[in-house]
Amino acid sequence: MTRKKMSILALQEKKARGEPITMVTAYDYPSALAADRAGLDTLLVGDSVGMVVLGYDSTVPVTMDEMLHHCKAVRRGAQYAYLIGDMPFMSYQSDTGEAIRNAGRFLKEAGMDAVKLEGGREMAQTIRAITNAGMTVIGHIGLTPQSAGKLGGYRVQGKTAADAQRLLDDALAVQDAGAAMIVLEMVPDRVAARISRELRIPTIGIGAGVGCDGQVLVLHDLLGIFDRFTPKFVKRYAELFAEMERALSAYQEDVTARRFPACEQSFQMEDLEWRAWMGDSPGVGAGESAVRGQSAGS
Ligand code: KIV
Repeated sequence: MTRKKMSILALQEKKARGEPITMVTAYDYPSALAADRAGLDTLLVGDSVGMVVLGYDSTVPVTMDEMLHHCKAVRRGAQYAYLIGDMPFMSYQSDTGEAIRNAGRFLKEAGMDAVKLEGGREMAQTIRAITNAGMTVIGHIGLTPQSAGKLGGYRVQGKTAADAQRLLDDALAVQDAGAAMIVLEMVPDRVAARISRELRIPTIGIGAGVGCDGQVLVLHDLLGIFDRFTPKFVKRYAELFAEMERALSAYQEDVTARRFPACEQSFQMEDLEWRAWMGDSPGVGAGESAVRGQSAGS
């Protein structure tokens, strides 16, 4: 069967059929290419790029320019996956006109299919304005990292009956405002499962249990590249940071010991040409004997 570019309708149909939606974050060309080839339904260029790629302590400092730069690279790597650009902090909160303009840049300049923004009912008007302007919006409730300070840190949301009801009301408000899908982050599994059942639109969980319509993980957590901390909800499928360190140490040692580059990584000149170039010059200099010695030995 030929693979088609994923659309928001196809994602919503997956929910209707009870088929899980797969999402991962991607930040550059190689990660987008690998995730696309692996068959992921959708790639999120998350503002988590600020922490796992750019080294910020939170997602708050991430700018529009940084997001667009990474989105463009992901666009070049992904042919089939549905692409979502994450609106950074203060690119949509202050007024709806600015939110529409910034959302538009993700589509027009960076080739994204949709934008994601954080917040519940307080963001309903903004979500409606962006969708009315013809764009697809993905919501994000529960633990919303851009306002983690206000929430008292990176904590599970919706643990009491009252908080769970507030989350459900937020999810419904985001859906009614026109969002096409919604991320639920760090929500107790049965709360997320109930929200998923009550919504028409797909829910994508991160730390929200198996009852969501799909799952997302931060690429660098999944691959074991981010070494600062690993949230409880992460499953590490590889330990690439350790592998990167191992490879870089081996390179460092090889260069120091003149084991790299070896003959097979070097370019050779024919003896005839070499002699023609050297003319009467008596011999082989120290540098050349080192090269020849290595060639002979390798
Ligand atoms: O920025 C991000 O990676 C996200 C995911 C955690 C959903 O928003």
